[in-house]
Amino acid sequence: MRAGGFWSAYARVYDTIWDSPLTGELARCVHALLPGSGVVVDLGCGTGLMARGVGARVVGVDSEPAMLDRALREGRIEEGRHALAEASGLPDACAQAVLVCNVLHFHPNPAAVVAEARRLCTKGAILVLTWPVPGLDTDDLLRWDRIHGRDRLDAWWAHLLRSSIGIRSAVTRAVTVSAPDSSALIDADDVVLSDGVVAGCQHLLALRV
Ligand SMILES: C[S@@+](CC[C@H](N)C(=O)[O-])C[C@H]1O[C@@H](n2cnc3c(N)ncnc32)[C@H](O)[C@@H]1O
Repeated sequence: MRAGGFWSAYARVYDTIWDSPLTGELARCVHALLPGSGVVVDLGCGTGLMARGVGARVVGVDSEPAMLDRALREGRIEEGRHALAEASGLPDACAQAVLVCNVLHFHPNPAAVVAEARRLCTKGAILVLTWPVPGLDTDDLLRWDRIHGRDRLDAWWAHLLRSSIGIRSAVTRAVTVSAPDSSALIDADDVVLSDGVVAGCQHLLALRV
């Protein structure tokens, strides 16, 4: 993977940027779709912000140890697996729900990640896929944070960090971003539980598979 160093640098500031009202709002929408028991696998779990408090046993999978360390230390996931989202090494049909949040838009092979997520699902499991809406920029996110009550200093600090991570990514070409096509992710047998935008910022596609 050509992202070398990018995700470990991001891990140091991830919560400072994203432990925010926006993430809280997205997590609430995601949790409302989940069974609340059984096993939830979170592919590309990061620091576990999306799985936090989900009320099920969460297995977090991430390629960046520093992200997993934080998720475990904060008690947001029960088990951390250092592996690729597209090749988790977990057994077939081991999860009542699988989350793929904020991963598909930068992953070089999003179809492989979705295929892996489907492999992990039991029959009738919930598959949740989220990604940022195209065109969203750091100023939009700052505005959103402020309107939704994030403390001014916190919001500006997050804004500065988000901008510098963005610059680092652009300069090093660590990740390139392109939003997936929602309809291409849906199989004929899926039941679509949600296919829309949360808070004007995040596409949320939830399927019963
Ligand atoms: C933008 S963060 C999203 C974290 C979390 N899902 C959330 O929504 O807060 C992307 C995460 O994917 C991880 N990642 C990047 N490429 C990966 C891959 N191929 N397999 C597994 N994790 C990966 C990064 O280390 C990072 O923790």
